[in-house]
Amino acid sequence: MKILVTGGLGFIGSHTVVELQNKGFEVVIIDNLSNSSIDVLDGITAITGIKPHFEKLDLRDKADVIRFFEKHNDIIGVIHFAANKAVGESVQKPLMYYENNIGTLVYMLQEISKLEKQNFIFSSSCTVYGQADELPITENAPVKPAESPYGNTKQVGEEIIRDTCKVNESLKSIALRYFNPIGAHPSAEIGELPIGVPQNLVPYITQTAIGLREQLSVFGGDYPTPDGTCVRDYIHVVDLAKAHVLALQRLLDDKNNSNYEVFNLGTGKGSSVLEAIQSFDKVSGEKLNYQIVDRREGDVTAAYADTNKANDILGWKTELTLDDAMASAWKWEQKIRNK
Ligand SMILES: NC(=O)c1ccc[n+]([C@@H]2O[C@H](COP(=O)([O-])OP(=O)(O)OC[C@H]3O[C@@H](n4cnc5c(N)ncnc54)[C@H](O)[C@@H]3O)[C@@H](O)[C@H]2O)c1
Repeated sequence: MKILVTGGLGFIGSHTVVELQNKGFEVVIIDNLSNSSIDVLDGITAITGIKPHFEKLDLRDKADVIRFFEKHNDIIGVIHFAANKAVGESVQKPLMYYENNIGTLVYMLQEISKLEKQNFIFSSSCTVYGQADELPITENAPVKPAESPYGNTKQVGEEIIRDTCKVNESLKSIALRYFNPIGAHPSAEIGELPIGVPQNLVPYITQTAIGLREQLSVFGGDYPTPDGTCVRDYIHVVDLAKAHVLALQRLLDDKNNSNYEVFNLGTGKGSSVLEAIQSFDKVSGEKLNYQIVDRREGDVTAAYADTNKANDILGWKTELTLDDAMASAWKWEQKIRNK
């Protein structure tokens, strides 16, 4: 029952570790703490009552990765979150992104291929669809040329896994294409911990409301959407985490239809940036200071998931709402600032 979670102290990884432990899995976390804090381990322990095994390890160090898998050759599944994820930074530092997101994936697959049980879950993204021609977006929508090196690492990452699965039938893999993960654990023991200026909407909202940022800039108010702002599919991180456990279980139970599968993970509902702000104002009782400014390069107009495949095949359904996510994100922000 030993599962390796890389990047397990990060935002989505930590919530997934909680759900894995809740289901009785033994979890080993690898993280190099480049975008997370060791305190997350205490948060996970406070929620589940179990301290997961943690190895501070940089997956770019191949010798360390080899040593790790030799020591833990009884791992039965791997969920690979570890990656860099800032789109803007990836444009400035493409090689850093290719090394960390692609190089480490190759090392992982090389070592997993030596294990008896080779079950692999990969964090992909709806960025692979770009501006899809049809909404909601199904898994059959074409993959569009990537807008950034970060987006490209997800596309190439999927291709590397698919190619490897073709020649290694023992390897079973699922790529999960996340839409927009937000929120925090309802206990406020873990949540999103952006280092520096947040790149994503919700931490920017909560940091503005708490006084850390002066104003939120809403990029573009003239998109062809009902209120003119971009539309996204905001998914609560706890719902997202639960989908990982179901995907892993599907592989462990040999229920997969092929040894490489892809699923969208979203709510199926699009919300505009202004709707997200309204939701935050409602649940927090705050009045967010925001301003609509020019469009930002690279933003698609609207993206939301067709979730039928994940609903039907994984037996997964989101249970939490945008309001739940905003309330949990606000509770988390207040907790970390009070600390
Ligand atoms: N958050 C999103 O909006 C989003 C959307 C789509 C896909 N994803 C993908 O999901 C995954 C997790 O995202 P997140 O939001 O939890 O990010 P995160 O930055 O919070 O977590 C990633 C973790 O990986 C660790 N890490 C990075 N490089 C490492 C390395 N070389 N060795 C060991 N550890 C390393 C970081 O320290 C961090 O704890 C990433 O692959 C990301 O690209 C995220």
